Amino acid sequence: MDVLQSWTFCCLSAANVAIISIAVRWYFHRSRYFQLGTGIPGPTGIPLLGNTCEVIAYREDILSYLKELRDRYGAVCKLWVGPLQCVVLSDPKDISVILSSSKTLSKPMMYNPVSIVFGNSLLTAKFEDWKKFRKLMEPTFSNRIIDSYVSTFHEKSQRMADLLQERCHGEPFNMADYSLPCALEMLSETSLGVPMNIQGKSHQHSVVENFPKIIELGAYSILTPWMWFHWTHKFQSFYYEVISLVKPIHDFVTRIVKDKTDSYLGSRKPYVTPEATDKPKPRLGFLEHMVSTMVENPGLLSIEELQDQTMFVIAAGTDTTAYTVATTLMLLGLHQDVQRKVLQEQASIFGEDTSRPVTTRDLQQMAYLEKVINETMRLYPILPLVARRVDEGVSVNSYTLPAGTIVVIPIYLVHRNPEYFPNPDTFDPDRFSRENSGSRPACSFIPFSYGRKMCLGKSYAYMAMKTMLSVLLRRYVVLEHGSRDEMECFKFDFFFEIQIWV
Ligand code: HEM
Repeated sequence: MDVLQSWTFCCLSAANVAIISIAVRWYFHRSRYFQLGTGIPGPTGIPLLGNTCEVIAYREDILSYLKELRDRYGAVCKLWVGPLQCVVLSDPKDISVILSSSKTLSKPMMYNPVSIVFGNSLLTAKFEDWKKFRKLMEPTFSNRIIDSYVSTFHEKSQRMADLLQERCHGEPFNMADYSLPCALEMLSETSLGVPMNIQGKSHQHSVVENFPKIIELGAYSILTPWMWFHWTHKFQSFYYEVISLVKPIHDFVTRIVKDKTDSYLGSRKPYVTPEATDKPKPRLGFLEHMVSTMVENPGLLSIEELQDQTMFVIAAGTDTTAYTVATTLMLLGLHQDVQRKVLQEQASIFGEDTSRPVTTRDLQQMAYLEKVINETMRLYPILPLVARRVDEGVSVNSYTLPAGTIVVIPIYLVHRNPEYFPNPDTFDPDRFSRENSGSRPACSFIPFSYGRKMCLGKSYAYMAMKTMLSVLLRRYVVLEHGSRDEMECFKFDFFFEIQIWV
């Protein structure tokens, strides 16, 4: 009995020592974390919860909340979400430090809820996986590959323009009902190599039907701190709603990845033999390149990882371009003088020809249209904020941000900084002329983000959007409808209804 008692005593003492030593280490680690953050101005929070309640209360209007903080505390400002320090940066020079740093390439835990949809994709992956995926995917978005997509962009845009005929002289309508199926057909036939014919169909594809809602729910969950933990997901009705919306899209992705893999295996010889001959390897689009990489390099990329990247490319490459095109058209309706200038540029390239296919060279000549798209993305960036996690202490401004800090970059506010964009709420594409933009710092305009994690589809996006707009504007005049004030109700809600009138 004595032996048993002293054995129990020893075990309990050892456990106590272990717990105390973990607590002491945790305390010193955290106190350094708290200490380093103390100089940064920000609202006072309540014990333990910090400013969590405010974040939740303002979740549907987070941009106004962040604007209020910026106006009150300046361009570097701190919030506490429970024990997590969030630093909001609005100065382009500070943002450039963070987005160019190799110490801030991780995504913070607020992105966790979207892993239900995108799994281990570029958006959500840990650094090592992200590096692998990015390296594999980068060549498939090169300019040379995208140049070969222009005829498909044109064909799909023509189809959209034909369908819009039924809307002429009618009531205002939601342009995204047309631009979204068009953008999906474009992406499917180019980067995915899967022919698709969904424009004009009464029953829409699940990507068109469900993605806007999924992304809206995703944005909501990113701003709801208790949803950041994987183990809490299953207690939320949000989880089951997202799962049911995402299921048909996952099924679609699983099917196309399987079909591509089967067809690659069936035609493997012609793909492999170029190495043995002098012929250059064929340039493959995203999905075909990834399938061949997966098959030829066992262990490098799993089929689940490929499905996750495909899922993300579909989301990243369709809604973004479709909504930016729709917003551009609405702004052109409200600014007839700008629309006339766009038409003059189109006439200088195509003459009176309303149907001549667009070429890469034509797209390069659409300098004014590009300024219009840029000014649209400045005012209404489709991703109004991005965030990063600090992996190793990093100095910004006069502060040191400790490892674990979440850095929030409110692109929407950055784009409306009067120092770099005088009268920031005015729509003026000439801000992007060479003489007006030359002196602005790099991160004053970041619709595609910046640095190593910058958008992979930037060139694709410009070429697809310019083609859609060129085809539409050569055939239709967008009439004035609504007002800029209505658009200013822009919340952290990517997909507001964009009505135009042609
Ligand atoms: C108007 C169009 C677009 C805008 C404004 C846009 C914007 C962005 C932004 C801001 C990011 C960074 C997200 C973050 O750090 O959290 C991003 C990432 C990404 N975008 Fe785009 N995007 C557009 C179109 C496209 C297209 C057409 C594609 C592909 C076809 C694409 C593929 C990607 C990918 C793969 C990433 C992840 C990059 C990485 O993490 O390494 N995007 N995009």
